[in-house]
Amino acid sequence: MTDQIKFDGNQLYIENLKAADLAEKYGTPLYVYSSNQITRKHRALRNAFAVMPGMRILYALKANSNGEILKHIRSLGTGADTVSGGEIFLALRSGFSPGSISLAGVGKSDRDIDFAISQEIGVIIVESEGELEVVSRRAKALGKVARVSLRVNPDVDAHTHPHISTGLKENKFGVNLDCAGGTVKLAAGMKNVEFVGIHSHIGSQITDIEPFAEAAESIREFALKLGRDGIPVRQIDFGGGIGVRYRNAIKHELLPHEKQEENSIDLSALAKLLKDRLSLPDCELTIEPGRFIVAEAGVLLTRVLYRKESSGRTFVVVDAGMNDMMRHALYSAYHQIVPVELSGSGFETVDVVGPVCETTDSFAVQRQFPPVKRGDLVAILTVGAYGYSLSSSYNSRPKPAEILVDRDYARVIRDRETYEDLV
Ligand SMILES: Cc1ncc(COP(=O)(O)O)c(C=O)c1O
Repeated sequence: MTDQIKFDGNQLYIENLKAADLAEKYGTPLYVYSSNQITRKHRALRNAFAVMPGMRILYALKANSNGEILKHIRSLGTGADTVSGGEIFLALRSGFSPGSISLAGVGKSDRDIDFAISQEIGVIIVESEGELEVVSRRAKALGKVARVSLRVNPDVDAHTHPHISTGLKENKFGVNLDCAGGTVKLAAGMKNVEFVGIHSHIGSQITDIEPFAEAAESIREFALKLGRDGIPVRQIDFGGGIGVRYRNAIKHELLPHEKQEENSIDLSALAKLLKDRLSLPDCELTIEPGRFIVAEAGVLLTRVLYRKESSGRTFVVVDAGMNDMMRHALYSAYHQIVPVELSGSGFETVDVVGPVCETTDSFAVQRQFPPVKRGDLVAILTVGAYGYSLSSSYNSRPKPAEILVDRDYARVIRDRETYEDLV
């Protein structure tokens, strides 16, 4: 629930600030984030996992890597899960300590690896034997010992969109469990590598606990087997993937009720599951949520440019495009869209589309929506994760500004790009 982004009367607010005022002041398209929504989501996780006081949360930077958001999340006490040298750089720059950073990713370049080793980050998660050998060689060349975990692929169907499912045997990620033992033995015998533990991430936007249970069971068995073989597992990183609700993020009598509302994971049940299956002696547990912490904190404010009737369809053309927020174009992801000011004049069926020269440039198809006209503002909700971080300047469109709101106070945390930035 986006409890910091809500209607007061007929006006949309982000914390105590009117969305319409922010759009007026900073222009559109505009990403606006609620810092207290981020705090609340982090707190919900921490409270649920109070049964495992030693468990660490590593925030997955790929969801949203704005430096000011990173500083805020770091101040809540998390570490950082990164997937590139660039993300390590951003994490360090935002104050995360090197030891609290992990580096995952199926195709790390030598540059990524060298940077991770020389910065002495907490752990490099290797995804193949070939990569393990490169890490060992680079560590030797740099005169260091690299702490390494192995990403295993537990062959679990996360029941999520195929493009964000990562834990199936046929996916490119990790090492299949049937050969992972050999890779761990290789790592354990390397002079410039210190074997730390096991990592797994089965997918994103998971709304059902069963796949997590299956993965946890496989990892437990694997960790126990390594222990029996004399290789202690000192860390299990269970990845991210906890889903959020995109439908009915805001409920209001003047908004249509959205069907097929997503399930939400019972966090206490997840915490109990991980405690029961993955609390092993002398082994630290970490998780790497991204979306869960930031998704509901963000909205994308956009202005209606045109209404267009064509072949019996009504298109609402807005000034944000797939380059600004590409989740719908990329995965047909559903985002609730609401007018920033509610008028109570019923609903019509429309497509909400952007200005980019691609048919996939849309945000909603055949959606029930309150009537809007040129100049009206609408908000695309739940875009705090994989919104700006997936954006581009395709069609030579300067990227939007980002604003962070804390109660009555808003500040620019990234300037809107200019035409000069395109050069
Ligand atoms: C290795 C890894 N960890 C964590 C995450 C974060 O996932 P989510 O944002 O669904 O929590 C991802 C996302 O793809 C990932 O690949």
